[in-house]
Amino acid sequence: MRGVGLGRRAVVVTHPGVGRHYLAPVMASLAAAGVEVGVLNLPAGERYKRLATVEKIWAAGLEQRLDRGGVLVALGGGVLGDMVGFAAACYYRGISFVQLPTTLLAMVDSSVGGKTGVNFQGKNLVGAFWQPRLVLADLDTLATLPARELRCGLAEVIKHGAILDLDLFERLERALVEAPTRTGLRLAACARGTLTPDLARLCVERSCQLKGAVVAADEREAGQRAWLNFGHTFGHALESVCGYRRLRHGEAVAVGMVLAARLGARRGDLAPEVETRLARLCAAVGLPVRVPGGVDPQALWAAMLKDKKTRDGTPRLTLLAGLGRAMVTDDTPAAMIENLLAEACAEGNDADR
Ligand SMILES: NC(=O)c1ccc[n+]([C@@H]2O[C@H](COP(=O)([O-])OP(=O)(O)OC[C@H]3O[C@@H](n4cnc5c(N)ncnc54)[C@H](O)[C@@H]3O)[C@@H](O)[C@H]2O)c1
Ligand SMILES: [Zn+2]
Repeated sequence: MRGVGLGRRAVVVTHPGVGRHYLAPVMASLAAAGVEVGVLNLPAGERYKRLATVEKIWAAGLEQRLDRGGVLVALGGGVLGDMVGFAAACYYRGISFVQLPTTLLAMVDSSVGGKTGVNFQGKNLVGAFWQPRLVLADLDTLATLPARELRCGLAEVIKHGAILDLDLFERLERALVEAPTRTGLRLAACARGTLTPDLARLCVERSCQLKGAVVAADEREAGQRAWLNFGHTFGHALESVCGYRRLRHGEAVAVGMVLAARLGARRGDLAPEVETRLARLCAAVGLPVRVPGGVDPQALWAAMLKDKKTRDGTPRLTLLAGLGRAMVTDDTPAAMIENLLAEACAEGNDADR
């Protein structure tokens, strides 16, 4: 930390389930750098991503005499990173913070780009843009991550390939679809909960480069940062209609990407095989690719219209101009989206029967 010009005092914020494995080496390396360190353990889970928890971080900072030159360190997943970043943005009107992401999602997505915040009456409705001084992802921490969490991170990596980098997408296909089929393995390694070190490195390195470049060009989402929403307008609607427990964010995004590709084909922008390839890749890692049974298409449509980006009854959707190329659209006829949702929900009901 001293190497990046950070202070002499730090508070490391973590969860017991993460700290148990990874806190000791973090403490040791900070101590070796001459940094005085305090620790705050917070309960894990999206429901704790709220202002009351941020107050605990501020209180720990004051109690441990963290001053303007101090640093807050987030050791955990995206929930913790978003909260600690927000706490740092406001503490003494802004102090340094460091992200040590330990979920694949945090490594490939949430730790990059400086969006911080909490849930307040709605998801992520209160927050700040506040860039970390340092992000350090240790791929070895993925060893203890539950398989379902790993898959959710993979959904965002697949998204990065689909919107920005055909080469990444095809390398994922080779590793996760073609190689396992050739070798007769039924499920790709990550569907079973492991990623080979090479694949983990590819996912994290490329995602950070790709998302980092988009954010550097458009931090406040005036333009191309919206590309990162591919699959998310459908996905957020699914999450809210299905309940956040039934469908994790990455799972909803996987279904959302498949639906967005289908819509692209209906609009005439995209070959139908793009949907097939996206669905095959997501399925290979154990992500869902269909709307779950029992979802009401009208409720889904209503949820989509609530999206922050909807204008005059037409959602603003990020779709694909081709595999590896995103585009933002706001001219899809509402009836086309409603028909697609009705079919997708009926398909989900049939598959569940
Ligand atoms: N800021 C952004 O740009 C951005 C982007 C995407 C998502 N997000 C946010 O990220 C959050 C989701 O993050 P997440 O998916 O990392 O979930 P999370 O932070 O809730 O972590 C998932 C679970 O895994 C546990 N865990 C973390 N690392 C572990 C490890 N190495 N071994 C064992 N268990 C571990 C956590 O304690 C937690 O129970 C959401 O709140 C979302 O809004 C933010
Ligand atoms: Zn996402």
